[in-house]
Amino acid sequence: MPAHDALIAAAQKARENAYAPFSNFRVGAALRAQSGRIYTGCNVENASYGLTCCAERVAIFKAVSEGERGFEAIAVVTDVDVLTPPCGACRQIIWEFCGDVPVILANLKGKVEQESSAKLLPRAFDSSFL
Ligand code: THU
Repeated sequence: MPAHDALIAAAQKARENAYAPFSNFRVGAALRAQSGRIYTGCNVENASYGLTCCAERVAIFKAVSEGERGFEAIAVVTDVDVLTPPCGACRQIIWEFCGDVPVILANLKGKVEQESSAKLLPRAFDSSFL
């Protein structure tokens, strides 16, 4: 999947900034905007656990807060053999801001898998229901 190499590399680099002293599960994410810019995020945990924010949401919120709208793909990198898919909350946020985009899952050993956000969140709730 060479088309996503840059995105995976950016997510891998962002993962190095993960603040994960409670789980020790370090995650990096990278999001490509239609503008061509790449926005990155890492998981940011908290002693009150529930306030933890996943890498995917950090990346998306960074991009949206910079004024970006319209995204092409998101990559998630962890250091595990069974690749990490976005949690349910992140799937909803990906759907809100990215719609149906490729979600690229990768690890540090070069394993890569791809799934569409529509398949990860079937029958998604969004503004079309309001
Ligand atoms: N985490 C992410 O950042 N993204 C995912 O896709 C799955 C989980 C984080 C949240 C928490 O800091 C740690 O991984 C363990 O759940």
